[in-house]
Amino acid sequence: MTQHFIVIGNPIAHSKSPEIHTLFGAQAGLDICYQRQYCPDDAASFTAVVEAFFHGGGMGANVTVPFKQVAYECCAARGGLSEHAKVAGAVNTLLLDKALLAKGVSPVEALYGDNTDGQGLINHIKRLGWPLNGARVAIIGAGGAARGVVLPLIEAGIETLTIANRTVSKAEILVDELSTASEKINQHTIQTYATAALSGDFDIIINATSIGLSGETLPLADALNCQYAYDMMYGRELPFLQHFAARGAQTSNGYGMLIGQAALSFERWTGRAIDVAQATETLQAHSFKN
Ligand code: ATR
Repeated sequence: MTQHFIVIGNPIAHSKSPEIHTLFGAQAGLDICYQRQYCPDDAASFTAVVEAFFHGGGMGANVTVPFKQVAYECCAARGGLSEHAKVAGAVNTLLLDKALLAKGVSPVEALYGDNTDGQGLINHIKRLGWPLNGARVAIIGAGGAARGVVLPLIEAGIETLTIANRTVSKAEILVDELSTASEKINQHTIQTYATAALSGDFDIIINATSIGLSGETLPLADALNCQYAYDMMYGRELPFLQHFAARGAQTSNGYGMLIGQAALSFERWTGRAIDVAQATETLQAHSFKN
């Protein structure tokens, strides 16, 4: 029987998720149908879309901009949230809690939220062969993208974490909130800086700002250096990566993270592990142009 999945967003036409998950389905030998689902940008519409989908027998959904926080609220009020979703304050993966369903709860009341974005980043960095254990890491940005990667980085065994942001007060608030939300984060000292004031040597610097393809560039200090630079965005040449490549760093955009988070969602829904390296190769060779 065909298993149905959707990705809910606004806008949604650009989403690569259907191609990625259709390939995963073929790799796992499963009959799946994965579609884009447009939703008006309000919480009531989002809830209605989710309810209709899961009442209709849907197996799982991805959630993208601008609904990740709304999805979090939805799950907090129903079936529950994973630790990563709780700490991130955002949900990118919806599924049904089987234990609750077995108790006779309706699909909507069994709605469970996970967040695979941060773990997708970690998996990609590991695939790249960049050392995380004992690493000195700096994140630039203090929005939703940064929030989602802090716990997975700490769980991966990094040594020090620094968060820099254009508005330094937002980085300070983020650290306070994350330290309250997670004891694992609270045990770590996280330094905060204004982006332009960030300097010194790091193993890995991650761009988690939304500056991406806007054409603007981050004010990076001359005395800021790293061995590895990662931009969570993907698309054409990213100025952040060009800056560090010119200084001899290895670089990567967030294309592998996109596939990594998708693979983790797929595994949550189907229980089937994906060969991400092989899937990435196939996607790069065919439909998925970087
Ligand atoms: P996301 O969910 O993608 O992280 P967000 O929550 O709106 O989006 O956060 C955007 C991040 O990009 C913030 O850290 C923001 O910095 P401020 O907190 O100072 O606004 C950062 N950002 C966006 N545009 C930027 C720019 N032109 N220069 C520097 N930082 C920028």
